[in-house]
Amino acid sequence: MLRNVTLPTGRRADIAVADGLVRHVGAAVRADETIDCTGYTCLPGAVDMHVHMRGGVQAGKEDWRTGTTSAVAGGVTVVVDQPNTVPPITTPELLRARVREAEERAVCGFAVNAAVVPDADLAGMCRAGAMAFGETFAAPSSYGEGLDAETLRGLFDRIHALEGLVTIHAEEVSGPAPATLADHDRARSGAGEARAVQKIAGLAPAGMQLHFCHLSTAASVRAARGTVEVTPHHLFLSHDNFDPDDTRARVNPPLRDEKTRRDLWSCWDRIDVVASDHAPHTVPEKSVPFETAPSGIPGVETMVPLLMAAVQSGRITLASVIEKTSWKPAAILGIPHAGFEPGDRADYALYPDEITRIDASRLHTKCGWSPFEGLEAVFPEEVIVGGTRAYAHGDLREERPVWYPGRGYLPL
Ligand code: NCD
Repeated sequence: MLRNVTLPTGRRADIAVADGLVRHVGAAVRADETIDCTGYTCLPGAVDMHVHMRGGVQAGKEDWRTGTTSAVAGGVTVVVDQPNTVPPITTPELLRARVREAEERAVCGFAVNAAVVPDADLAGMCRAGAMAFGETFAAPSSYGEGLDAETLRGLFDRIHALEGLVTIHAEEVSGPAPATLADHDRARSGAGEARAVQKIAGLAPAGMQLHFCHLSTAASVRAARGTVEVTPHHLFLSHDNFDPDDTRARVNPPLRDEKTRRDLWSCWDRIDVVASDHAPHTVPEKSVPFETAPSGIPGVETMVPLLMAAVQSGRITLASVIEKTSWKPAAILGIPHAGFEPGDRADYALYPDEITRIDASRLHTKCGWSPFEGLEAVFPEEVIVGGTRAYAHGDLREERPVWYPGRGYLPL
């Protein structure tokens, strides 16, 4: 039972929960566990539809336990794992093994995507419960080879026949290995990203459900067909914030310059989803010359907190944050809606009014650093998964791993 919840409409109510779902909204009823929400802003749990939870041979970077603990500590109650693991998720057996690993180690809701490469068993993974297809690498990135146009066209046809959702990493790459963040921005330019988005949209059959991952410029957002995702790092960071060869800020698509970053906010209303692209690499892995450093930065724990600070400063509305971090990604993927009506998934995060600054030493990701260090944020004090207090005041309380299979799932 959640008492004294201020609903998005402004009304105060008590929310009774049973079996992970909202049963009743209104006056108090008797309950085993009561969570008093007085003084907090109660948000539906976020669905971060783009994370790399690593594990296996990459467990030094992150694993399901640390990655999902980091998620709940940031108000995220469902994560969607990308399939560029080592090895990548290309068969139903690998997908089932990945789900089993998560069921044993995750602390919150999760889903697993299928890798999109020519020899992948797409139909088998669809039946085994893959959530979406991709991220599909239309350009090379960490642990993923870029696919050419003809290969993409063939794969899109196969995914469309399965009525699947394809998620796309669209970029154009040129020139020699970059030595600085500005070189990296030029080698994978914003203009190239917008061209890639347009070209790739043209390869998909009419009526296919397309989702563009981590678009980094206003022009790319406007060029997209289907749904559009942006990351907190492209909204809150530019390469002007870092030393020119700071490998920690190396990510694909690259951080842009300050003007491009500010322009991205001008399309806030067109952005469907904010997702973190949580892509942890360790400090030793990043402590190499820029040319050879891995691309990717952590961000699942800081995503909603950064957006909540932007709400408090009046830049964006609370309703838009709920829409882009919870309701829209859930609707795109077919994950049950978290909210304030009977039948809704009872996942919530309680945010205080107080703005703090990000301190990497207090985050829960295994990689142990954050490119957002020092930025303003509002962290949740309590996080509820399936009606149970999963996280409170810095500590994990209860593990609630729940697998959300995709629409094509056929139980064995
Ligand atoms: C991602 C990673 O490290 O897995 N890196 C990144 O720079 N974004 C891969 C990806 O999402 O492209």
